[in-house]
Amino acid sequence: MADKVYISGAKPLRGEVQIGGSKNSTLAIMAACLLVPGEVRLSHVPAIGDIRTMAAMLAALGARVERRGHEMCIDATCFRAAEAPEELVRKMRASFYVLGPMLARWGRARAALPGGCDIGTRPVDYHMRGLRALGAEVEIDRGFITARTRGLTGGRIYLDFPSCGATSHLMTTACLARGVTTIENAASEPEITDLAEFLTRMGAQIHGQGTSTITVQGVDRLHGGEYTVVPDRMEAGTYAVAAAITGGAVTLRGVVPEHLQPVIMKMREMGVSLTSRTALDPYDSELRVHAAGRPKAVDILAMPHPGFPTDMQQPVMALLSLCEGSAVITDRVFESRFKYVAELRRMGADIRLDGRTAVVRGVEKLTGASVRATDLRAGAALIVAALAARGDSEISGLEHLDRGYEDMSRKLSALGAEIERTATTRPMPAAVEA
Ligand code: EPU
Repeated sequence: MADKVYISGAKPLRGEVQIGGSKNSTLAIMAACLLVPGEVRLSHVPAIGDIRTMAAMLAALGARVERRGHEMCIDATCFRAAEAPEELVRKMRASFYVLGPMLARWGRARAALPGGCDIGTRPVDYHMRGLRALGAEVEIDRGFITARTRGLTGGRIYLDFPSCGATSHLMTTACLARGVTTIENAASEPEITDLAEFLTRMGAQIHGQGTSTITVQGVDRLHGGEYTVVPDRMEAGTYAVAAAITGGAVTLRGVVPEHLQPVIMKMREMGVSLTSRTALDPYDSELRVHAAGRPKAVDILAMPHPGFPTDMQQPVMALLSLCEGSAVITDRVFESRFKYVAELRRMGADIRLDGRTAVVRGVEKLTGASVRATDLRAGAALIVAALAARGDSEISGLEHLDRGYEDMSRKLSALGAEIERTATTRPMPAAVEA
């Protein structure tokens, strides 16, 4: 029987929570390790489902992958495969990022079209065009992509939209291409900068990361080394919202405040107090979140970085469902990232959808309900909503949540939440009227 989470809500969270390493940064870095014929040691690798899937992928391709706690050692010296196992690519979109490194090292690569969270059509046309610009022949046949090259060469790539996945995949692949590659309209998310810094540490020559034009000067080979993954801004943002929605006071440790700027600014506009303290080690840097009273309504426009992150749109929607007034939330990144709204409505939220826009009319209270996560960030939204709701909630679909949040029930419980994760079904009492 699958686990469920039971939350008895309306308890303010208090205390301190440690934020782990970035999921999306680690996934891209792990795929990039396939370019390195040597040992790479990574620290602050989160213990989450997606990382386990990527580790299984690298191992299936012949790399040595060892993990102890939050340290991971990857050695792709013996990696020889040129075909990614279908079940792993279907399970997680980021496992498709191994295509370029396979091509760069062995001149051929094959992978199934990727799966992942169901939040839109999520095509891979930019990846394919980019690999062609680097001198590969790329074909799609019966759901598989096959790429071949006699040697990658630098090229000019323009992305129609600043895609995170295409930017990281192509930037990584270009590291071993002969000559210079430029990626125009590149994504500038902190995870891209982190990947570029990792690759540079391993001997790559990359410039312009964090801007919309990235230049890669190809090198003959990369070498092993050590790297610390950047903290996860989405995990931090989720706990900041959990603190705010319960009217609590929580210190998040392991936050790079600049990475969370749009979230911090919008939460301040809502009337939440957020103060940061930066330390030399980002895992010691802190963000203190203190909320008093109902949030004020603010509009949210999810856009590529430095715009408001699409991955935070969902927990923030839960917070805004309790706001004073009405808020408009628009997602310009993914076309169908509002599937979780029906579940929030079950908890009493008043939300209307019109295409990529949601209109939230703030209600005074949410009430506990039995709800199901439909994707990773939807799961985060339901958890934070349940923390604020009066009465008991039952949340299922935890396999989505486990892909991206380490030990969420334990961390929330340490902050004072009444939360239990169990495989035993509990009877749900009728919603409590306050
Ligand atoms: N797009 C295309 N063609 C492509 C690639 C992308 O049209 O070849 C479009 C997408 O359909 C989408 C837009 O470009 O409309 C942006 O997609 P992007 O490629 O940036 O998304 P991604 O790389 O698939 C990553 C994260 C997501 C995060 C987005 C946006 C990973 C593993 N995933 O996805 O994270 O929402 O960037 O920031 O890095 C999550 O963590 O919950 C998550 C979904």
